[in-house]
Amino acid sequence: MLVKRIVYFEKPGRENTEQTLKFAIEGARELGIKYIVVASSYGDTARKAVEMIDEGMQLVVVTYHTGFLKEGENTMPPEVEEELKRKGARVVRQSHILSGLERSISRKIGGVSRTEAIAEALRSLFGHGLKVCVEIAVMAADSGAIPIEEIVAVGGRSRGADTAVVIRPAHMNNFFDMEVREIICMPRLKR
Ligand SMILES: Cc1cc2nc3c(=O)[nH]c(=O)nc-3n(C[C@H](O)[C@H](O)[C@H](O)COP(=O)(O)O)c2cc1C
Repeated sequence: MLVKRIVYFEKPGRENTEQTLKFAIEGARELGIKYIVVASSYGDTARKAVEMIDEGMQLVVVTYHTGFLKEGENTMPPEVEEELKRKGARVVRQSHILSGLERSISRKIGGVSRTEAIAEALRSLFGHGLKVCVEIAVMAADSGAIPIEEIVAVGGRSRGADTAVVIRPAHMNNFFDMEVREIICMPRLKR
């Protein structure tokens, strides 16, 4: 049996970013976890994380796929990406596994896919941040940026970070092998 603390923020949102990163790194330190996987669309959260992370830990930054907001364009400015890499982070940019091709189909002809139903269940029941943690863990694994061993994943609501969890990741073709092993912090209210 393991008795541990979970931190609950009052509300979701970017104002929880510094605290979330602090608890995420402490959680990883406690468990001897090497990889911290952080969602960062424009680079703000990643730039904070790269300064806070322990020596010996590996920061993996998962960002929006090229064209997510504007065809052919990246959200993260190239100079920010360069800075993160120079400071030792790995940057992952690939298709989002919890929307994928299905998003185009539901946009064009309606309905909802099974993939999007999984995403919505995670978002509605556990909050945006936890859905993001699950998604970026698979993206990082499928990019070969992390091994299939316990990692700490960090996500948020739209901008910044408010959720950190310990995850045993899986690849996209074995999604249900994934385990969310510990909640480190999350917002109590999800909306
Ligand atoms: C692949 C990916 C998927 C995301 N999906 C969602 C989502 O479903 N809902 C949400 O509120 N934020 C989502 N985000 C935003 C992140 O949770 C996080 O708040 C954001 O990337 C931080 O960016 P910043 O460091 O530029 O502030 C997603 C981010 C990425 C990279």
